[in-house]
Amino acid sequence: MIFKTILDKTFRLYITAEQIAAAVERIAEEINRDYAGRELTLVVTLKGAMVFSMDLLRRLRVPCRVETISAKSYGNAVESSGKVEIVANFDTFRGRNVLVVEDIVDSGLTIAAILDKISQYEPAETAVAAMFSKPAMRKTDVPVAYLGREIEPLFIVGYGLDYAEYGRELPDVYQLADT
Ligand code: IMP
Ligand code: MG
Repeated sequence: MIFKTILDKTFRLYITAEQIAAAVERIAEEINRDYAGRELTLVVTLKGAMVFSMDLLRRLRVPCRVETISAKSYGNAVESSGKVEIVANFDTFRGRNVLVVEDIVDSGLTIAAILDKISQYEPAETAVAAMFSKPAMRKTDVPVAYLGREIEPLFIVGYGLDYAEYGRELPDVYQLADT
């Protein structure tokens, strides 16, 4: 299926599940290499990164703790608002090697706010893994140590990413088709 209709919008196939799996495999190898002999605290940003982070988790070969963090910046729209509210059990980050797992870095405001908040709880180390990045949309510079793939400044759904809470279950990624 090349096209998907979600609510009022039409989306077109953009990145296949096979391409995604290859990128996850590569990222996992990078993490396994970089964290060999150490312990990791995966911080899953809800809800978008759930699918990516669990695929990643199953490929990791270092001891992993898993925590969640929720940062809402989007509402039901397709554009970033820049306002971010962050919820987590922050004390679980103290002294840990924190790896924040994001679905997509767009403006960068969400991940910047998350990193700022986490740093207040004195982790041993903090890094970011993101499945997708839209470098053309960046409003603030954020370090992404592990990246699945750069994409055009398009709105996408699938592989955990939603349009108004729909589309997260799609194994492939679709882009908003211009109609
Ligand atoms: P940022 O603060 O602009 O970097 O936005 C990051 C968050 O917005 C991501 O974690 C996603 O939840 C959401 N987001 C950004 N771009 C898209 C997209 O193309 N599709 C779905 N959600 C997106
Ligand atoms: Mg997200």
